[in-house]
Amino acid sequence: MQEIIHQLEKKRDLAKLGGGEKRIEAQHAKGKLTARERIEVLLDENSFEEWDIFVEHRCNDFGMEQKTIPGDGVVIGYGTINGRLVFVYSQDFTVFGGSLSEAHAEKICKVMDHAMKVGAPVIGISDSGGARIQEGVASLGGYAEVFQRNVMASGVVPQISLIMGPCAGGAVYSPAITDFIFMVEDSSYMFVTGPEVVKTVTHESVTAEDLGGAATHTSRSGVADLAFENDIEALMMTRRFFNFLPSNNKEGPPRRHTADAQARAESSLDTLVPDNPNQPYDMKELITKLVDEEDFFELQPDYAKNIITGFARMEGKTVGIVANQPMVLAGCLDINSSIKGGRFVRFCDAFNIPIVTLVDVPGFMPGTAQEYGGIIRHGAKLLYAYAECTVPKITVITRKAYGGAYDVMASKHLRGDVNLAWPSAEIAVMGPKGAVEIIFREEAKDPEKLEQRTEEYRTKFANPFVASRRGYIDDVISPRDTRQRICRSLAMLAEKDLINPWKKHGNIPL
Ligand code: HXC
Repeated sequence: MQEIIHQLEKKRDLAKLGGGEKRIEAQHAKGKLTARERIEVLLDENSFEEWDIFVEHRCNDFGMEQKTIPGDGVVIGYGTINGRLVFVYSQDFTVFGGSLSEAHAEKICKVMDHAMKVGAPVIGISDSGGARIQEGVASLGGYAEVFQRNVMASGVVPQISLIMGPCAGGAVYSPAITDFIFMVEDSSYMFVTGPEVVKTVTHESVTAEDLGGAATHTSRSGVADLAFENDIEALMMTRRFFNFLPSNNKEGPPRRHTADAQARAESSLDTLVPDNPNQPYDMKELITKLVDEEDFFELQPDYAKNIITGFARMEGKTVGIVANQPMVLAGCLDINSSIKGGRFVRFCDAFNIPIVTLVDVPGFMPGTAQEYGGIIRHGAKLLYAYAECTVPKITVITRKAYGGAYDVMASKHLRGDVNLAWPSAEIAVMGPKGAVEIIFREEAKDPEKLEQRTEEYRTKFANPFVASRRGYIDDVISPRDTRQRICRSLAMLAEKDLINPWKKHGNIPL
């Protein structure tokens, strides 16, 4: 028996070497960790249980029968992050370039199926040359099996993708379906067709980095949520991020102890909004002052910066924050910010995370670029997401809430549960000057009369009291009390139970 155990250990040690020492060195030389090292950093110490270490491909073409490597280019299993169960797969670039064979795909599907059975999140680490070319359609079938599971798991267990090397061709669509994509600067890229194909088809010269690197996807395309400097940082931040998420759609978000008092008043907020309504201020200052221990995990910080999305905690429980940013495009809603906000709201709703919406929005962005680009369809995404959402919704209007954007940003009419406003709030169909230029067209030609009518309109409508007289605003509050008012509202709504009418699914304007 001892001898058999010894043989097993030897076999396992060999398998753990993947593509061998030389390829591991090459991986390190690129500043990348190996598939197993990544799992070690990601999971709690000694918590990883590996499966299928001895799985091999079944390809007999192109001399592949002579080349089998145990594990077949992906390490799978489960473990814990801060004690909470998570399933992982990590592609091993040292084995056939991490390319996906039929057997490799089956391994990924195995962890996904288990994650669904027990209700635990899945973290996938991509570092792969794509479909295993020698396997042809079997590999394509493998991808589609993974995609199908990604879709079935969407909204059931959180799915996080870490892109830590190449991820090209159809392979990008698995991460694309997952909830969050984190990339590593200078060593990861994602594109549907690489620079050479681009050159042939469109005659554009572009580097892999410019086409699909971390900077491109976190600032231009919005495909990825965050970029990190290296593997270690990406993995450590994923651990931090994981702590905000529930394990599945039946659970509430995890709760952690906080020493931050519910009633902490923030007197500095009383002067956050400038007297001049055209002067911007940083909405992030409000967010960090409201939430527990100033701990705000922002998503997509470099994309559509006119809206801010991310997770924080109030009294220890996760909340999703959606906020207009007056520092960028005056906080206007445009195509990209509507998509960014809408997708985030839907994640929160799917996973029982209450949403706190901070509003300072002058309206939707005007212009041909926006209209031709489909702001009607894309703006409707955010509206749809808020209207469909059944988790607790708390809204605080700090300053502007004009026009359709007032309606969209979790207004009372879209089933906002608690809608509060600061005394500086301006809630109306449009800004005073624009309104006067339309309803007093003739008088507005005279600058003195324009000024007078504008002031009249401002006094009458640019305040929170017209809306509060109708009950659209539940209360006008002192900015300093905002944290306490939100915390109390969340506690009041803890058992909220709202169910939408039965349907197979709605038809969100995609
Ligand atoms: C089989 C592959 C492979 C693949 C890489 N390798 N990609 N083997 N199938 N797709 C192997 C290489 O032959 C090499 O083996 C080893 O992995 C390392 O690759 P290198 O090329 O030496 O590494 P590097 O120079 O870092 O380049 C990495 C790379 C390049 C850019 C990813 O390997 C590459 O372009 N690969 C092909 C990419 C591709 O076209 N994939 C198919 C896309 S279509 P040896 O033994 O020589 O070390 C697709 C469709 C999916 O994925 C559709 C889903 C719907």
